[in-house]
Amino acid sequence: MKENKAKVRIVSAKQSADDISLDASLRPRRLSEFVGQDKVKENLAIAIAAAKKRGEPLDHILLYGPPGLGKTTLAHIIAAEMGVNIRVTSGPAIERPGDLAAILTNLQKSDSFFIDEIHRLSRSVEEVLYSAMEEFAIDVVIGKGPGARSLRLKLPPFTLVGATTRYALMSPPLRDRFGAVYRLDFYDEDSIELILRRSAKLLNVEIDEGALIQIARRARGTPRVANRLLKRVRDYAQVMADGMITESVAMEALLKLEVDPLGLDEVDHKILRAIIEKFDGGPVGLETIAASISEEADTIMDVYEPYLLQLGFIERTPRGRSATKLAYEHLGVVYKKGPANQPRLW
Ligand SMILES: Nc1ncnc2c1ncn2[C@@H]1O[C@H](COP(=O)(O)OP(=O)(O)O)[C@@H](O)[C@H]1O
Ligand SMILES: [Mg+2]
Repeated sequence: MKENKAKVRIVSAKQSADDISLDASLRPRRLSEFVGQDKVKENLAIAIAAAKKRGEPLDHILLYGPPGLGKTTLAHIIAAEMGVNIRVTSGPAIERPGDLAAILTNLQKSDSFFIDEIHRLSRSVEEVLYSAMEEFAIDVVIGKGPGARSLRLKLPPFTLVGATTRYALMSPPLRDRFGAVYRLDFYDEDSIELILRRSAKLLNVEIDEGALIQIARRARGTPRVANRLLKRVRDYAQVMADGMITESVAMEALLKLEVDPLGLDEVDHKILRAIIEKFDGGPVGLETIAASISEEADTIMDVYEPYLLQLGFIERTPRGRSATKLAYEHLGVVYKKGPANQPRLW
């Protein structure tokens, strides 16, 4: 943790303070600009068109998937496509039922209400949300003690858009109240290249095809990581070259950033090495891995594990995580290379 504060991880998909303005400036505004996730886009487009035709608010929508894949972006796009206002908050920000009631009673008809990290709502707040979602009404208690009475407040019909990195942590009654649930997947390299091309244009930087491919390969299928790498490589190109991002400039910059050829960084390597070297390849519990490398189990689960699973480098078994043959092979290649013949990364 100490280390995380001092040094923002270059390939972490989590949003850091630095990303907030980058995310906002590069965020697609309309569904047509949103690259990839074709199935989700198609279904959303139909749902939006149908709701508009009926003149009704959209069904409540739950977006889930690892950080940096476009949940917040989609929430804003949905509101823009519906032509409604969006009210944004997050699970931990709504402390008491009264906070939620205050927001809900200020919504206008058809407004979109976006709750990020919805799995972190407290139980008492969640309960208020149930009737709000289902009946567009909430019960508020007025007064205290024997004189207290309950009052039913009607709400305008609205659309709740929830986002979560942890579907499994959501309570079933909350999940069930969403009319549609969309899972975002890691992007393929072609989609990441398209995103990078678009971002380079917006950032006003020239980049060649080879550089695009090299950056895309290391972006862990994650637009946020792709954009962050692009920005760092651009900085490098401006200082060390003439500003144009060629493949060789990109390679030099990426080497300096200590991102391996698959986009894995020091923490990914620590996780894999811990499983392999300290626990004989596993299976070993996530908490044990976390403790052995001084990372938080939550961070490993949200940020690192999904991509390692996607690569097929680790397997989740009932008894814990195991490293696969692919992981052994990858580490073997990365670590074997001595200084003479390219990067010995860590
Ligand atoms: N499908 C996409 N097309 C283009 N850019 C995207 C896409 N998805 C995400 N991005 C970019 O990645 C950044 C992070 O996305 P965001 O919606 O904040 O992710 P999440 O909320 O899932 O963590 C956005 O600011 C945007 O620039
Ligand atoms: Mg987000």
